[in-house]
Amino acid sequence: MCGIVGYIGQRPAADILLHGLESLSYRGYDSAGIAVREENGTVAVRKSSGKLERLKQLLKVQPVSGCEGIGHTRWATHGEPSDVNAHPHTDESGRIAVVHNGIIENYDLLRSRLEAAGAVLKGQTDTEVIACLLGRMYGGSMLDTLLELQKLLQGRYAIAVMCGQEPGRLFCVKSGSPLVAAHREGESFLASDIPALLFHSRDVLILKDRETAVLTNEGVQVYDENGRLCPRETFHVAWSQESAEKNGYAHYMLKEIHEQPIALEKTFERGNDLLRPEWLPVDRETARNLKKVTIAACGTAYHAGVLAKYALETLARLPVEVETAGEYRYRQPVAQKNELFIAVSQSGETADTLAALEEARKNGVRSIAICNTVGSSIARAAGEANTLYTCAGPEIAVASTKAYLTQAELFVMISAALGMLRGTLPVQRALEIRNALNELPKKARQTLLLQEQIRQLCERFSHCEHVFFTGRGMDYALAMEGALKLKEVSYLFSEAYAAGELKHGPIALLQSGRLVVAGITQPHVMEKMLANLQEIRARKAQVLAICPEKMADRVKPHTDEMLVIPDTDDCLAPLLAAVPMQLFAYFMARIRGCDVDQPRNLAKSVTVE
Ligand code: F6R
Repeated sequence: MCGIVGYIGQRPAADILLHGLESLSYRGYDSAGIAVREENGTVAVRKSSGKLERLKQLLKVQPVSGCEGIGHTRWATHGEPSDVNAHPHTDESGRIAVVHNGIIENYDLLRSRLEAAGAVLKGQTDTEVIACLLGRMYGGSMLDTLLELQKLLQGRYAIAVMCGQEPGRLFCVKSGSPLVAAHREGESFLASDIPALLFHSRDVLILKDRETAVLTNEGVQVYDENGRLCPRETFHVAWSQESAEKNGYAHYMLKEIHEQPIALEKTFERGNDLLRPEWLPVDRETARNLKKVTIAACGTAYHAGVLAKYALETLARLPVEVETAGEYRYRQPVAQKNELFIAVSQSGETADTLAALEEARKNGVRSIAICNTVGSSIARAAGEANTLYTCAGPEIAVASTKAYLTQAELFVMISAALGMLRGTLPVQRALEIRNALNELPKKARQTLLLQEQIRQLCERFSHCEHVFFTGRGMDYALAMEGALKLKEVSYLFSEAYAAGELKHGPIALLQSGRLVVAGITQPHVMEKMLANLQEIRARKAQVLAICPEKMADRVKPHTDEMLVIPDTDDCLAPLLAAVPMQLFAYFMARIRGCDVDQPRNLAKSVTVE
């Protein structure tokens, strides 16, 4: 999704803005631009569709100089990706430059009002409407103008503004979309995402909704919607700058796959002891009275929720409903007494998940969040006390890997802890799970040793244009994630089916040249899975089975290829089995020449619905 950066200080702004935009490029974008206030007071704008390289070439031909500026990477929503629609946009006088993330929902109305008043807009973006409005409303103070502008805008937005008439100041305002700022020795920085600031500072100021900030080279001042100054503390980010870099790996995705053992370890060691479940944001009485859990999330986080359904039902004996957040938020869900709602999000900024959480809270449902990003909108909406953090560190690759594994891990921990509180989980079983969780990082490291075998398998299967994923129980949740990973990075057609469903239709698609990846980690349904494999192979499709060591002898005769993962507790085996699926997607994408870290059409952190 779109990214915003801003800089004010003594150094040439263009280089710093470009560096910031590069660090945000993982979010996915289709055009980029910067605006710099030049010595003579003019606002110089350079922008182009395509990747940042094109913008850099443009800046070589048409350089800009100045120490104040704003920049943007755009992921098209209103209007196609083009030079004219790229940000920054300027007002009619060309003296006010604006970049913007989010969507202005009453854009049509605002645009027609402006056009009726004689404005001529060049492109199709809602951002140009903001710039035009600002130009017409400006009366000498951009801070006052932004306070007024907020009253007109509907939707979610993060806006940064540079005004030719007010040198030495950058402005920004937000509602719903994130903005963070930092100050360091005569320089201030602005960004839509923490990784873009880490190079400059780890002490960041997180803007709240409807706050406006003014950045100068002396600091960052924050105002509430009534224009009152709000003194604000900075927040120290635990993530290091290195953690947001590739560190010698060919891609962020591969690096993040390899970071999973440490991410699992950190998430487990956060002090969340299964036998002492006080860390749960629900007390014993609430836990005992619970009648239902609802989980809402998007994409990979949703798949972690599907996996959680099995863990919560087995360990805590709770009925669970899992839903994609975009569906939940619009279907008028019936709130139940003693229901627990759980929103899951890596970024903490996904618009649909945030809206689902708000909907649940509005309906009076006790709500908690699972999140990877401290201070994010979802963590704030749930409240810090109701947020459980995964410790995956910054996830830069668009395809989520380490966030998924830690979400799944945390869900198993929550399920066991709730089971303890509700008296549905014997202490002995909780101890077994705790020991297995403790061993999980080591087992994940062993699983990563399958990498070369997986790469070779991908060479062998690279001709397959259709790949199916299947499994039963927790392995069905695993199959859904395996299929998503493969389609998003390799663009192969891939779909997941519950193994029991294959016969009810999808089997019609099975034929020679098609591959079925089967997760077989759950002993209680192993025999059923083996019967399904026979049906698949009878249709001449090939099978790649992923199973733990203890099942390998039994599975081997029923599969064409096999990846054997280390033995672990049955409720954690699908987590280990996700690792080969991630590597499979990664190598398939590489062999097919795809842009692994920034797959086409996709964006990290989907801040629009
Ligand atoms: C897939 C992927 C997306 C995200 C989804 C939710 O690999 O990354 O499907 O999982 O956009 O994002 P978060 O977890 O940030 O809410």
